[in-house]
Amino acid sequence: VPFEPLKFTRRTHEESIERARQFLEGVRERRTVREFSTESVPAEVLETAIAAAATAPSGANQQPWRFVLVTDPAVKRRIREAAEREERENYEHRFPEEWLRALEPFGTDWRKEFLEAAPALIVVFALDHGVDADGSKRKHYYVQESVGIACGMLLTALHWSGLATLTHTPSPMGFLRTLLGRPANERPFLLIPVGYPAEGCQVPVIGKKSFGEVCLKVTEEEKAT
Ligand SMILES: Cc1cc2nc3c(=O)[nH]c(=O)nc-3n(C[C@H](O)[C@H](O)[C@H](O)COP(=O)(O)O)c2cc1C
Repeated sequence: VPFEPLKFTRRTHEESIERARQFLEGVRERRTVREFSTESVPAEVLETAIAAAATAPSGANQQPWRFVLVTDPAVKRRIREAAEREERENYEHRFPEEWLRALEPFGTDWRKEFLEAAPALIVVFALDHGVDADGSKRKHYYVQESVGIACGMLLTALHWSGLATLTHTPSPMGFLRTLLGRPANERPFLLIPVGYPAEGCQVPVIGKKSFGEVCLKVTEEEKAT
């Protein structure tokens, strides 16, 4: 491929520090929301956030993702019904005791009202391989990492734009491929309801690890312990 000059905004250290702090303050307000209002959201925000996610870095720039934006109430209902069928099986038969205990603080159960209440669902698919114009398979590299990064950018963009999200992983998720008519190389990755929090929405009191726990610094003459 040909090369071109990089467009890069050079900032002063002061400006960088200020922007980093403001970003942290902004993302600290993101919370996973499980009760959504049925109020509509601007379609342009959803599409712009997906466009932002699609700028993510990816292994060999293969961009192994597909974002399916669902706002049709009938399709949302079908997704809810299928997800609840699977989740009911999980909570009543499939989940081991240990997993149920880990979920307890979040008060979740098999009922997924939010799949109909939220005005939009973004279903993210990972493309385990690509398909060339002649129909032959093209191997994709680092699919999990690439799609994970794109999803992080999507959640951040939606939050930044003033919308609430839920990172949802009904299990198993295969029904999403059939229901949305996606081809065999597209694997359901995340189901993200997007909208405004319901009036009086509550979230569990949880903390984040301290900076010292998550970040080790290795400087000259020192080793991480
Ligand atoms: C990969 C992944 C899968 C998740 N799946 C679910 C889910 O199926 N249902 C749910 O209620 N929350 C789910 N969550 C949300 C987490 O429970 C939530 O992010 C975590 O408790 C931290 O809360 P916070 O997002 O408000 O910081 C998931 C999060 C991630 C990253």
